[in-house]
Amino acid sequence: MSTQVTFHGHGTFAIETAGKTILIDPFFTDNPSATVAADDVAADAIIVSHGHFDHVADVVSIAKRTGATVISNFEIVTWLQKQGVENGHPMNTGGQAKFDWGTVKLTLAFHSSSLPDGGNGGSPSGVLLKLADGTIYHACDTALFGDMKLIGEEGIDLAILPIGDTFTMGPDDALRAIRLIEPKRVVPDHYNTWPPIAQDADVWAERVRAQTSAEPVVLQPGQSLTL
Ligand code: NI
Ligand code: MN
Repeated sequence: MSTQVTFHGHGTFAIETAGKTILIDPFFTDNPSATVAADDVAADAIIVSHGHFDHVADVVSIAKRTGATVISNFEIVTWLQKQGVENGHPMNTGGQAKFDWGTVKLTLAFHSSSLPDGGNGGSPSGVLLKLADGTIYHACDTALFGDMKLIGEEGIDLAILPIGDTFTMGPDDALRAIRLIEPKRVVPDHYNTWPPIAQDADVWAERVRAQTSAEPVVLQPGQSLTL
């Protein structure tokens, strides 16, 4: 059985692996680029990278409906539990945890993480997933940083990198990130949701092809790739 990775626009991905569905940063309801509704997505686990609304907005409703295990930093899991989320799995930066479908490590990310109500959302993170079919690094919202090279040493089959600029890395720094991480394939995310993060992903993909050894895959919201 192969692992399917579906882009839902912005930073939201659904990963189907080992018969389970793992959602990362579910943002559907107020996401202008989403093609499905929060009420219609399956989830066995939900991973939340940081506290900003465009990453946590639909977590409570999906977790309550599906009973999914919510994996995030301690502060965010505590905040979600106060809203009725029952199955929380708190972690923190650099920590790894094993689940029956794969292993999750929360990596460094250089960003901020305040919660929508102004509460302390702990430290932002990226997500390293070791699955039966390969290893995925979703950098989530972050600046470029040199220790991406250490993450690359884990052997990355698929990197998901923000290219939107303004709030995260832009296209130029995402190219530099590829040289540090050396993934086999790379998918851009966190762009075109709103005008301040508008980017031409196809132009970026041409630069990736010309200037790095990674294969770029531009997914439209709703599209999938096989790991
Ligand atoms: Ni953010
Ligand atoms: Mn964001």
